Amino acid sequence: MFREWIFSLIVASCTKGALSIIKIPPCKIEDQACIQNSVNVIATKIIQGIPELGVETSDPLFFETIEGNLSILKYKFFNTTITGYKDCTVSNLKVSPDLTSLYYELNCPRLKLNGKYDITGRLIILPVEGNGDYEVITGKYSILVDSELKVQRGSDGKSYLSIKNFKLKCNPLSAPHFDFKNLFHGQKDFSDAVHKFAHENWPEVADLVQDPVFYPIVNSVIKNVNKFLKTVPLDDFKLN
Ligand SMILES: *[C@@H]1O[C@H](CO)[C@@H](O)[C@H](O)[C@H]1NC(C)=O
Ligand SMILES: *[C@@H]1O[C@H](CO)[C@@H](O)[C@H](O)[C@H]1NC(C)=O
Repeated sequence: MFREWIFSLIVASCTKGALSIIKIPPCKIEDQACIQNSVNVIATKIIQGIPELGVETSDPLFFETIEGNLSILKYKFFNTTITGYKDCTVSNLKVSPDLTSLYYELNCPRLKLNGKYDITGRLIILPVEGNGDYEVITGKYSILVDSELKVQRGSDGKSYLSIKNFKLKCNPLSAPHFDFKNLFHGQKDFSDAVHKFAHENWPEVADLVQDPVFYPIVNSVIKNVNKFLKTVPLDDFKLN
């Protein structure tokens, strides 16, 4: 009910080349719950995409190349489509009163990745190699995002907020499903053994391979967030 009420207050419109008008309820800067609610509502909009503001959708996301350059394992994912980001929610949000840092927890129930892969090295203890089609369906993830904010004056003299950089701590909370076709160039026994190992030891496997995948995902989404923030002067958020 409360969410719907906030939602109905958000109006993104494009009038005669002017930028959008965004209205959200005023939040006191100390009222992190109020800010978190607004962030979730705005995030939903941004992830859907706001074509009027040049903000592309974040679900699906597409990556030509994702490269995992780990010491014992090298992998490349090509032409990867990632879906499921729209079901992620933000919790435990903390923004510093001086607007220099932002911390939140991103809760994603399930992300699905598919494309082509090339892999060689060791999956913890098992040698692994191959290339072909792949699909990974993650389990539940909690991703802690620590970011620096920046307030800059625009050419119109108004202040705009942006996210400068971020650090992630990815915590897999339930089992993913891995499906790599043509591992070991189709030798089924070896391929089955690696899949079995990965499914049985998913926390360690996820820990090993996840970061090179999550950084580009969050980077893409933050780029879209920054495109949005560029169109909304800080004053319009009515933080006080
Ligand atoms: C991956 O590592 C190799 C050397 O092991 C290096 O030449 C290459 O530039 C690295 N790629 C990335 C994207 O870090
Ligand atoms: C990725 O897609 C492009 C465009 O469809 C294609 O040219 C390229 O070969 C694909 N890459 C792989 C590794 O399949």
